[in-house]
Amino acid sequence: MDDTIVPKDLRKSYTSKEILAIEQKHIIPAVTHYFEDPILIVGGKGAMVEDDLGKQYIDLFSGICTKITGYNHPKFLATLKWQAEHLIYSSTLYSTIPYAVLSQKLAQIAPSDLSQAFILNSGSEANESALFMARKYRNNPYIVACTHAYHGRTQLAREISSAGWRTVPESHPPGVRFTPYGYCYRCSFGKEYPDCDYECARYLREVIRTQTNKAIAAFIVEPIQGVGGIVQPPPEFFRITYEIVKEFGGLFIADEVQTGFGRTGDRWWGIQQSDVIPDVITIAKGFGSGIPIGGFLTRPEYAAEYTTTDTFTTFGGNPLSCAAAVAVIEIIQEEQYLSKAAKLGAIIKKQLITLKADHKLVGDIRGQGMMLGIELVRDQITKEPATREMLQVMEICKQNGLLIGKGGIDGNVIRIQPPLELTQDQTERAIQILDSAFTEVEQKI
Ligand SMILES: Cc1ncc(COP(=O)(O)O)c(C=O)c1O
Repeated sequence: MDDTIVPKDLRKSYTSKEILAIEQKHIIPAVTHYFEDPILIVGGKGAMVEDDLGKQYIDLFSGICTKITGYNHPKFLATLKWQAEHLIYSSTLYSTIPYAVLSQKLAQIAPSDLSQAFILNSGSEANESALFMARKYRNNPYIVACTHAYHGRTQLAREISSAGWRTVPESHPPGVRFTPYGYCYRCSFGKEYPDCDYECARYLREVIRTQTNKAIAAFIVEPIQGVGGIVQPPPEFFRITYEIVKEFGGLFIADEVQTGFGRTGDRWWGIQQSDVIPDVITIAKGFGSGIPIGGFLTRPEYAAEYTTTDTFTTFGGNPLSCAAAVAVIEIIQEEQYLSKAAKLGAIIKKQLITLKADHKLVGDIRGQGMMLGIELVRDQITKEPATREMLQVMEICKQNGLLIGKGGIDGNVIRIQPPLELTQDQTERAIQILDSAFTEVEQKI
């Protein structure tokens, strides 16, 4: 390829200060970065990224739980290049090969008979659309979501999220209700698993009976909450809530934007770690491994009445994004990432549990596969969230070449959601860096 025809301003090298100056002048302040002195990432290889000075970082967060196949997988790059040279866009007014091929592949990996796909551009859009479809199908406005959930930032997705950001005075739109999630470390009912009789799950019946017309359109839930702080309820939570949802005629929507595509190990979908078969699965993030794409999978009977007058998308289903997603699915299959996520995830979790024994800063270790969380507390008994200490840990990790994610309503949970390309050596180095960061921060508490 002749690089010289690529716009010169893209090819030239910048310092992070120069880029920051452009950003401050021309990008709205709502777009913020991790760290006071943000990293300018210019490239990546496998599970590593590189900054403008050539410093390498192990990326335990895949951007934001997105670069599932790593930064330079040859099949992913070749597919994008090949598709770009053939057809990037034509709209869904016409048939294209990648959309059809992708929908067929999704049907092969979907649970049970979720054989139809609608391809959009993001997770928020996927959730908005799935909820619209459910409301229309059930002719009912009520949606129940979980406390600490995150489903996106478009209007309805934002309203059904409670993982933080209620920053402006707003009243909830009609029809949105909340029920507790299974957050055992901070149980809403002050109970302890497994003697709790799953009160969090059973409470859904109370919500529906007292706050709806005793019927709902849908219950939407993350199999493991990501932004909410890698919170994983026991599998019974999903079985019990599923039964209640069915008792009141609703659709069970699993938001697999973070848990999908093998991240939880051994299975394609996080909800499959319980024995629930959902009615809808919403997807994004790892789906395109960085190329914007989202969507949902559902049964033909639910999709039948959801028509062109209800929905349309200009970019959704475009050939380039669909081809990228086809490559992602094949890479996951060929590289056997499902079993790798289970095996390496179990090794990492075991090492984290050992770290917990050595560090008073570590309150809880949780999650499954390559979706793990470390909740930091200032005191093991009071469980006071270690919010400030979390920022210190992040900074030390950064200095030592490790990027981690932050989550939880108090910003005190380390999120480990690496590319599935992560190696055993990188894992060991990452654990050492975390260990020394905890030691250093603990000295200041
Ligand atoms: C579980 C979940 N659902 C939906 C979304 C929204 O996705 P997007 O940012 O692509 O709109 C996110 C984003 O973090 C998410 O974590």
